[in-house]
Amino acid sequence: MTVIQPGGIKNVPDGFSGKVKWESPSNIALVKYWGKTGNQIPANPSISFTLKESKTKTQIEYTKRKEISDKPHVRFFFEGKEAGQFGEKTFLFLKKVDIYFPFLSELELTIDTENTFPHSSGIASSASGMSAMALGLMSIEKKLNPEMSEHYFYQKASFIARLGSGSACRSVYGGLTTWGESSLSNSSNEIAIPLTDTHPVFDDFQDTILLIERGQKEVSSTVGHGLMHTNPYAKTRFAQAQDNTTQLNEILKSGNLEEFGALVESEALTLHGMMMTSTPYFMLMKPNTVAVIHDLWAYRKATGNHVYFTLDAGANVHLLYSKSEAEQVLQWIKNELIGYCENKMYICDAVGHGPQAI
Ligand code: PMV
Repeated sequence: MTVIQPGGIKNVPDGFSGKVKWESPSNIALVKYWGKTGNQIPANPSISFTLKESKTKTQIEYTKRKEISDKPHVRFFFEGKEAGQFGEKTFLFLKKVDIYFPFLSELELTIDTENTFPHSSGIASSASGMSAMALGLMSIEKKLNPEMSEHYFYQKASFIARLGSGSACRSVYGGLTTWGESSLSNSSNEIAIPLTDTHPVFDDFQDTILLIERGQKEVSSTVGHGLMHTNPYAKTRFAQAQDNTTQLNEILKSGNLEEFGALVESEALTLHGMMMTSTPYFMLMKPNTVAVIHDLWAYRKATGNHVYFTLDAGANVHLLYSKSEAEQVLQWIKNELIGYCENKMYICDAVGHGPQAI
């Protein structure tokens, strides 16, 4: 099933100009997407929490161009400075999605973007960045077509965000979302959908991100996904992710935190297991990543608290726990764990309500 067709609005009226601005959060996967085919089609389904504090803010100013051309006409600013490397990425993204936005060939764009989290903190800015960009483009389309339904607006935003960075498609909705065909009804490889009927304990679940190591990752996600094509365990892994998606969906309804933790921690270690069993093999965990995990297991055994870890494609550790246990857990983090963080840096985040037009 193709959810979104190419084509759409063109013939921009004379004098059409204005600006749109969105802030969109990053997300943290619980069941991990790792491996893809074709045009950003995931090899397995995933489930994630959309965060609250780790966001990208993107403003797009648009004006009708004097001459139409098939090349995007765009200036790109990152944190106030005209950007080379980021601009290049955005240019390629706009070229890739222009078949879905024919009006782009008639516009001149100035894009201004900034993150609320430190650059190179190891927090993926692609999910927040690409979702903010996709929502901005949708807002321009909506100005040209005010009749557009909200449902279509978000579906297409998710579809477009996916073409920029797979996991970005999950950030257009708040709370818990799933992406990739699975046993869950309406699930799709092309867009994410929000999960409903989840237990209230997850509405304000906490995510403290321990910044173990800042800086550029040694192996990009793009390379990591690609290596799944030859990973000998790939088939089993993709089947496991299917099962885990079905199971986690049930756990998210029941609110059973022990079951939640067991599945989520296993997913994180499996993701890194896939990296270690790829050819060439690689490892993104650092000694302090492993030290935190062992301390966490000891803490849980000693206190019975419900705090669990997950990892993304990097060395940072995400500690997940319920709001009701936050005071105690945060105290422990401050007392015992910040020494493992580079420059003692960590980010207190939580599940959020999704992107906002600002
Ligand atoms: O969206 P990408 O291509 O940056 O890949 C994200 C991969 C993980 O963060 C490791 C897992 C996920 O589902 O977000």
